[in-house]
Amino acid sequence: MSQHFVSVEGLSREFPHASGHTTVFEDVNLNIERGEFVCIIGHSGCGKSTILNVLAGLDEPTSGVVIMDGKEVRGPSLDRGVVFQNYSLLPWLTTLQNVAFGVRARHADWSREQVNAHSERFLSMVGLSHALHKKPAELSGGMRQRVSIARAFATEPKLLLLDEPFGALDALTRGVIQDELMQICQHTGQTVFMITHDVDEAILLSDRILLMSDGPNAQIAESVRISLPRPRNRADIVNHPGYYAIRNHLIRFLVARSHERPNHRQPLDIDPALDASSSQANNATSSQVNSQHTTHNTTSRGNISC
Ligand SMILES: Nc1ncnc2c1ncn2[C@@H]1O[C@H](COP(=O)(O)OP(=O)(O)OP(=O)(O)O)[C@@H](O)[C@H]1O
Ligand SMILES: [Mg+2]
Repeated sequence: MSQHFVSVEGLSREFPHASGHTTVFEDVNLNIERGEFVCIIGHSGCGKSTILNVLAGLDEPTSGVVIMDGKEVRGPSLDRGVVFQNYSLLPWLTTLQNVAFGVRARHADWSREQVNAHSERFLSMVGLSHALHKKPAELSGGMRQRVSIARAFATEPKLLLLDEPFGALDALTRGVIQDELMQICQHTGQTVFMITHDVDEAILLSDRILLMSDGPNAQIAESVRISLPRPRNRADIVNHPGYYAIRNHLIRFLVARSHERPNHRQPLDIDPALDASSSQANNATSSQVNSQHTTHNTTSRGNISC
């Protein structure tokens, strides 16, 4: 039995087409520990959503296995909550009913009052107590996405899967929901696997960031540890001495190394903040670190579209 909470072993996915098939990714190996927040970053089309769908049990791999909490994932389950980019709410139900729907499925023995009280608690966590009886069409995009997040949390899944959940939101709303997500995760110890294209978002939220090489035949090249202290906030995190070492490492991978085929089966374990501080302490490669700093401070602020 796997000792990790989630263990993905030798995963590959082929899709057929007219003249054969394409192997989108192959021999993908990754682990997620209980309570960890893991983001995955990689260029468009490398297979991130497909991996997430396999983790959710919504798609089947061509080969390989996903084990969660000691059991093989086969088909969808309330143990895995998914938030998609396009906030898939049921349009004919109110905010409260959209959340209660999942809670009732999870707790068939609960009374209506229990279901509603539980659902309202999670809607209040995402600041939507005032919109319980509105339908999705009456909500802004950011509010709809909060309903999706509350719905996923309210079913108390063992694993929360987020596919670019903030991709369509403006920067201000995105920041507010990121803060809410961090707070909820801190209080509940939720295990999260999230896809994002935003390097700064990934650093803010993650315990680890998985870097995926380009497809076809994509693989997880590196597992980058984000050892910045928690609680984190976006204003202060950039002042941490390790922040730009991490950011530079991620961007350099996306810009210059993602096309390289990894020559190792397991992702390389990397901690750029630790590497930077130890190299500064040794005063050995500090000039290199500083020049990396300068380059990326002046080039790639904000959302990196990979
Ligand atoms: N059902 C399908 N049938 C055929 N090809 C598919 C199918 N689903 C995905 N693909 C292909 O698999 C590849 C990976 O798709 P996927 O959506 O997983 O990429 P992604 O990394 O999530 O990209 P993005 O960052 O743009 O969302 C793409 O080339 C896509 O065209
Ligand atoms: Mg995708």
